Formats: sequence, C-alpha cells, structure tokens
Amino acid sequence: MLALGAVAGGAGAAAVLLPKGTTAPVTAGAAPAPVTPTGAGGAAAAGHVGHSVPSGFAVPGGPAIRPAVTPFTVPMPLAKELRPVASTSTADRYELTVKPADVEILPGLKTPMWTYGGSFMGPVIRARTGRATEVSFRNDLALATNVHLHGAHVDAANDGYPMELIEPGGSRTYRYPNKQQGALLWYHAHSHGTDPEHVYRGQHGFYIVDDPAEAGLNLPCGAFDVPIMLRDALFDAAGNFVFGGNPADRNVALVNGKPQPYFQVAARKYRFRIVNTATERVFRLSLAGAKITQIGTDGGLLPAPVDKAELKFSSGERVDVVIDFSQVKFGSSIVLTDATFGPMLRFDVVRRATDTSKVPARLRPLEVLPAATVTRDVAIATDFSQGGPIPVGVINGKPFDHNRIDMTVKRGSTELWNISNADGAYGFTHNFHIHLVQFQVISRNGGPPAPEDAGLKDTVLLPPGDVVQVKAQFTGYLGKYVYHCHFLEHGAIGMMGQMEIVD
Ligand code: C2O
Ligand code: CU
Repeated sequence: MLALGAVAGGAGAAAVLLPKGTTAPVTAGAAPAPVTPTGAGGAAAAGHVGHSVPSGFAVPGGPAIRPAVTPFTVPMPLAKELRPVASTSTADRYELTVKPADVEILPGLKTPMWTYGGSFMGPVIRARTGRATEVSFRNDLALATNVHLHGAHVDAANDGYPMELIEPGGSRTYRYPNKQQGALLWYHAHSHGTDPEHVYRGQHGFYIVDDPAEAGLNLPCGAFDVPIMLRDALFDAAGNFVFGGNPADRNVALVNGKPQPYFQVAARKYRFRIVNTATERVFRLSLAGAKITQIGTDGGLLPAPVDKAELKFSSGERVDVVIDFSQVKFGSSIVLTDATFGPMLRFDVVRRATDTSKVPARLRPLEVLPAATVTRDVAIATDFSQGGPIPVGVINGKPFDHNRIDMTVKRGSTELWNISNADGAYGFTHNFHIHLVQFQVISRNGGPPAPEDAGLKDTVLLPPGDVVQVKAQFTGYLGKYVYHCHFLEHGAIGMMGQMEIVD
C-alpha cells in the first residue's frame, strides 16, 4: 500500500510518499516543486521562482467525510461536444476557457472546481486524423496553468511543457496536427509541481481522434459511442473537494462527475471509451461476469478484440470497450463494479433498438517497428535519503530538473526501454508515461506482456518491483519532451525526466 502525506499550502500542495507504517507529516508552505511561470508562449525560464498564491484564493475545506450516496439515483451525464469557432479546409479552431465554476457533484451541494468551460468534464474535442486542430485556452483562474494533450503526437512547442505556463488572464493556442490513428486522448493541466491539484480540482477533458480509416469497421458510433471519465475524490460536509493527504483515502468514485449513476441503454452494442483521470488510482472494473470486449487502448484500436473479465488501468490510461446489452435480459440491469469502490455504474436496459454495428474479428494491425538501435534502463524510485519530511521522486537516481537533459534520442530511431519500479521494497505502485510516442510493451518481468499491456500504449502500469520492456520509434518532432510517473503526486515531487529529440 501507498502511504502519502499532505503538504499544505494552496496550489503548491503536493502529496508525498512515505514508507509503510509511517504517519504523514504536514508541513505548511513547503512546496517541494517550485513552479517557474514563463508567460504565455514563453520558453522555459531559468531559475526557480516559488509560486505565490494570491490572497483570498485559498480553497475552503473542512474535514473529510464519507458522503451518504443512494446508489443509482442520478443519471450518468454525457460530456458535451465542443463546436469549432472557425474551420478551414485543413483545420478546426476551438476556444475554451479554464475557469472556476461551482458544479453539482453530490446531490444538493456545489463543489468549487477549476474547469474547462464550466463543467465537470472538459467538453469533447472531436478531431479527425489528418486534419489539424487549434485550441485557444484562456486562463481565467487566479493561478498559472497549462494544457497537455495526453497521447498526442505533437511538436514540442505545443506539448504543454511543464515549465511553460499560461498566466492568469493570459491565453495560449495549442496546435495539434492529429497525424495519428483514431484514439481517445485527453487534455489536462501539466504545470510542474502543481498539476496534481489542478487535475484533481477538475482540469481534465476528452479529445477524440476520429480516423476515417476505421469507418469501414462499423463499430458502434454516434449516440452509441460514449466517453466515460473515471476518477476519485474526497469531500468535506459542504461539498468542497479535500485535496492533499493520501490519495488512497479518496473515498468517492465519480463516473462522468457523479457518484454511482445509472445509464439507460438500448438492448444493443455500445462503445465506451474510458479514461482514468484520477491523479493516483488503479481501477479494476468488471461487469458481474458479463462479457466486456476490449477493442482499444491508449493509442487506438487493438489488432483484434479481446474478451475481458476485468479491465485494469491506472491514472492516464484508457480502455476502449464494446458491451452488448442485447445479452442482458430486457428490462433488467447490470452493474459495473470496481474492485476497490464496489458498484460504480448501473446500466438499465430499457429500450429496444436496431443494431447494424459490428465488432469485426480484425481491427487494426499493430505497426511492426524496426529493430531497436538503443537500449536504456529507466528506474523509478523514491529517495528518502535527502532528509526533510518530503521524499524525492527520482528516475535513474535524479529528481526532475528542467535544466538537465536526461536522454538524447535520435529522431527516427527505435529504442527499447527497460522501465523498472525500483520501489518494490516499499510496496509503492507507479506507472510510466512517455510523451510524444505510443509504445509497444515487449515483455513484463522477462515474460510475456500482461493482458492490459496489449496494443499501442503511452502509459503503463508498474506494480512494485515490476520491469516492463517497451519499444518505441521516435518519429516526427525535435525538442524536449518529458516522461514521468502519471501518479501526478509522484511526478510533482520529481519522478519525471526529459529527453531531447535531435537530428
Ligand atoms: Cu497525462 Cu505528462 O501527462
Ligand atoms: Cu509513481
């Protein structure tokens, strides 16, 4: 189990790892990871500048409670789709405001959130393979922030580098080329040291790349292709989010922003694209023994559908599944259950509908990558040796330093990375996310990949002591990109490194 302690101090707060059996110290104002604001569009500035929290900004929060929720009394909300403000023959332009909003999550209570566009889930941005997207984000928060499109193959200037921030009142346009296959991506805050809090308070949204090359597969589409965002939260009695402390203590699971909703479905096939936006959580979902057919993962479709009894995926990862409700007795219900939280979402089969969609036996072959020319070892660990109440997250022994390049990667090259969770002795779980690329898992602990490793991945789960070997080709762009543990509290204390892609 993972034990984490709080560091108080507003937006600079970051939770920290502690060894098993220790008690979390609380240290006021000791933000471990300084943030260097650089202004909209600015390059990373040198030097560390502590981020000050504007007075009056402190987020209220009383002691945490376990809210009484009557299961299955509210419908699962569906994410809105964002409409372009302008379109040309090659690109669509969107505008979105990052802003505070009071959102009803628990019945009858308002939760102050930091949102994209005012709702719990940032709206769905629907892109198309081969057609560019421009999204202009205006920052109406009182704090600097930025946006990373998780899973995108994008040039470094548009990747949401953790030191390149949008100041309050500023805006920044990110341009996404969408030269990648169909997939559910997601956008979220990525300001170094503060992104756990920004994402926790609501800066998470859907981005779907639709791929014309997949249209002929005839998978469920339109109203039968439903994005779902899963995460956790901890509340006080007034409905405020409680941030800090041990993320494992977050006792409410949210499905599209509601605890234990229901979803009325027709007796036919649905596609559900599910993203785990919790800052630190592994979900293990099952459907009362009924069949869940996984068709895709982080980077897009699997080569062939796989029937799953359980979906296991950690912070940042996606699963793309088809559930056929014609197999459920008409008029009855079936409950999606998590191994930790229990019942999450009830599907009520209330309508009949024709269904011409299919799950073909072959979906999309995985690209065969060239032979690797470089092999690297990447060890993720927690370093308690530096003293003080906050340990340091390290990769190959070093905490993140934006002034240091940890790896130089030749553009176009194919590499093997042996990524290990070196915290086995503490029992800490991690995962690992690489920007820019989708990788393929070659092996786990010297054996075959685990079922959840299949397909194109950008984030992979690392239970204590595990070693995964992944293979990636670094095509397309030059510049600096980070890789990190996507348990965001871990990235914030340094469990992040950066590579520079060069010619
Ligand atoms: Cu979803 Cu570097 O992150
Ligand atoms: Cu971690």
